[in-house]
Amino acid sequence: MKINTVSTFPRIIKEATKYGIVSNAVKNKLININHFSLINDLSQGDRIDDEQYGIEPGMVLSYEKSYKLFKRIKTLNPNTKFIFTSPKGTKLTNDLAISLSSEKNITIVCGRYEGYDQRIIDEYCDLEVSIGDYVLTGGELAACVLIDSVARMIKGVVGNENSVTSDSLMESMLKGPVYTRPKIYRGKKVPNILLSGNHANIKKHLRKTSLVTTLKKREDLLENTKISLEESNQLKSIKKEIINKNIYIALVHYPIENIKGETIKTSLTNLDIQDIARSANTYGINKYFITHPVKEQRMLAEKVIQYWSNEKVRKNDNTKHSSIDKIILKNSLNSAIREIRAKHGVRPITIATDARMVHNMTSYSTLRDRILNIDKPVLIIFGTGWGLTKSTLESADYILKPVGGYYEYNHLSVRSAVAIILDRLLGCKF
Ligand SMILES: C[S@@+](CC[C@H](N)C(=O)[O-])C[C@H]1O[C@@H](n2cnc3c(N)ncnc32)[C@H](O)[C@@H]1O
Repeated sequence: MKINTVSTFPRIIKEATKYGIVSNAVKNKLININHFSLINDLSQGDRIDDEQYGIEPGMVLSYEKSYKLFKRIKTLNPNTKFIFTSPKGTKLTNDLAISLSSEKNITIVCGRYEGYDQRIIDEYCDLEVSIGDYVLTGGELAACVLIDSVARMIKGVVGNENSVTSDSLMESMLKGPVYTRPKIYRGKKVPNILLSGNHANIKKHLRKTSLVTTLKKREDLLENTKISLEESNQLKSIKKEIINKNIYIALVHYPIENIKGETIKTSLTNLDIQDIARSANTYGINKYFITHPVKEQRMLAEKVIQYWSNEKVRKNDNTKHSSIDKIILKNSLNSAIREIRAKHGVRPITIATDARMVHNMTSYSTLRDRILNIDKPVLIIFGTGWGLTKSTLESADYILKPVGGYYEYNHLSVRSAVAIILDRLLGCKF
């Protein structure tokens, strides 16, 4: 593979590629690296950067001053793929490195200051690549990372190909722990299985430790890992042991807002009783509180619950009806909070939900990690009618962003919203 680099400081890249496996790959002619300087072609006193148009500070790499160099590189390498390093680019992953390793000729372009004038990017860029969600002062280090990660994917660059294919992030998994001699040091032993010589068992062990390491450190990767049903069940059991089991939900019928913003009571909806209980059971919710201040409405709920409880007995417990045990009827949200507090000795963290955009809403990704890993009870509060009142929203510790599509219409039934929200917060992705 031929790699060209375009930068202000080619020496940074030259130096970084002088060592180890990458330098061997150059010596063995598996890769050939050529460096072009943005500065070399400039006449004395001239600059490659210029002031940015508009109102923002910072200098921009000039289209006019860099064009000649880009044109020359394209003439010398008509089939080259121009890869601009940029924090705005596609995130560099192992898969991207593998895909780039099959290119014959790439040109890695490094920016400085505010980056390149958009017109040179529009004219030459085939791909923008970011090496992570942070901003570097220049693209040279990003180019080094790109060269290193792509080079080791080229056949022959790493001596033992197995050590590349078994690496972390291959097949969307992390590698488990590794050990070397001695077998025991300071009383700490290497796992016996690795010393057993039984290749089949060692292979199974390595697969298991790899999956467990991925679960613990980067569960998001497992979404794209090919795993068997048995492995999926094993991972779920491990996860169940460590996550918060004290997450509650409440469905509020008073105080609620109507379309005019007035505070009202809403009527109980029969479907919300069993459907939400089933969602609660699916996502490991501890208890589902239905709160209503009107005794007759609670009695109605009790009647429905009784009906499903009888069905549960009649159908031998082994059905969707077992979810009915999750329900607790209360006359107010506060009495649900008091019950959780009495059970755990602390007030639950409260999370309100709303279909409308209000200030200070929290994202699902922020709350997911927090509530799954915290050792405190959590109560997620759902409204009926036109939603929870302003005072209920304001008294919650967090308000979640609404779920929904890109359209103005947003009138999900609360039971649908509960299912979506619980999946975003507590759903298993593998
Ligand atoms: C200071 S940055 C320019 C950032 C630009 N003002 C912005 O907000 O997107 C200068 C150069 O560093 C390189 N760079 C910075 N962060 C990077 C990243 N995360 N990945 C790849 N290259 C990066 C790029 O070459 C970029 O043109």
